[in-house]
Amino acid sequence: MTQTNRQIQLASRPAGEPSAENFKLVETPLPEVADGQVLVRNHYLSLDPYMRGRMSESKSYADPQPLNQVMIGGTVGEVVVSKNSHFAVGDKVVGMGGWQEYQLVDANQRGVLQKVDTTHVPLSAYLGAVGMPGVTGWYGLVKIINPQAGETVVVSAASGAVGGAVGQLAKVRGARAVGLAGGAEKCRYVVEELGFDACIDYKQHKDVKSLAAALKAECPKGIDGYFENVGGMILDAVMLRANAFSRVAMCGMIAGYNGEPIPLAAPQLILINRMKIEGFIVSEHMDVWPEALKELGTLVATGKLKFRESVAEGLASAPDAFLGLLKGRNFGKQLVKLI
Ligand SMILES: NC(=O)c1ccc[n+]([C@@H]2O[C@H](COP(=O)([O-])OP(=O)(O)OC[C@H]3O[C@@H](n4cnc5c(N)ncnc54)[C@H](OP(=O)(O)O)[C@@H]3O)[C@@H](O)[C@H]2O)c1
Repeated sequence: MTQTNRQIQLASRPAGEPSAENFKLVETPLPEVADGQVLVRNHYLSLDPYMRGRMSESKSYADPQPLNQVMIGGTVGEVVVSKNSHFAVGDKVVGMGGWQEYQLVDANQRGVLQKVDTTHVPLSAYLGAVGMPGVTGWYGLVKIINPQAGETVVVSAASGAVGGAVGQLAKVRGARAVGLAGGAEKCRYVVEELGFDACIDYKQHKDVKSLAAALKAECPKGIDGYFENVGGMILDAVMLRANAFSRVAMCGMIAGYNGEPIPLAAPQLILINRMKIEGFIVSEHMDVWPEALKELGTLVATGKLKFRESVAEGLASAPDAFLGLLKGRNFGKQLVKLI
């Protein structure tokens, strides 16, 4: 085994759009493993939009990522050294290892490292459909939108890790699922592979009026539930087509992550349509994770929940892949493969 660990650290904070200069690749000696600890070789890193928020110092629901420390992030990998009786060498695990090849974990701390079963679910899926993004989709759909059979659910960033799960879970519950995604190829995938009823290429619509007309065509009975991943023009258009007593799960607003203004054009529609709009952070709802993961794991293992991955190769590719994710260059769950 190598004696060095390579990691990507946050070198500086971006003003607006981040760039490769905000990151640096650092080599450190592999740490000694003490009693109770395990050393994990990370196989995949998860790249997620929330990391953009952590790069800034502005007020948020979580503390900023410290400078000159390894970038935060979910990881899956294999235990290579264990001095903890709960973990054996060879165990496949999911944790928050960060952007690095190895992580040293005090495995006595509850919840920091989970063993996973890769018999029917591939290891990488524990960072996507059967991991945090899948549970995010499940929470917003089931606990906030709570779709009834025959209702219409719309989801933005529909080809992505979260959005793809939302539409398929809505279909399982007998709802009509309509996605929004950037480009014909993503939209074709959302309908043909993921089984949504329709998908609108929002990039073909220059203004709210045009997008609202497309939504009217695909949602003839109006919109009962909206799973929000983007913000801006898409939210305005959805609100114009929302039904009375519709529910909006406010999951993400990626259109504004670099500080772009994303004003709401007609907030009076919340009142007129008696809408329920609820924001949520998935890590604050750990109580639902077992139930959500059970459904997601079963659906993935039986081939009923499909997903796609964009896999960048090698640790050094992580910054560029992350910058691409913020611009929609990913197609499905963005991962970095390390081994
Ligand atoms: N609340 C929570 O606890 C929680 C947890 C996880 C994720 N999230 C949020 O969920 C959303 C989806 O996350 P994900 O991991 O599944 O990412 P993802 O959808 O796999 O990737 C992000 C996608 O966002 C779209 N996008 C980027 N910039 C955009 C823009 N300006 N306008 C419209 N679309 C844009 C792109 O798709 P197109 O090419 O289709 O535009 C891109 O592929 C994000 O907003 C994320 O922050 C929230």
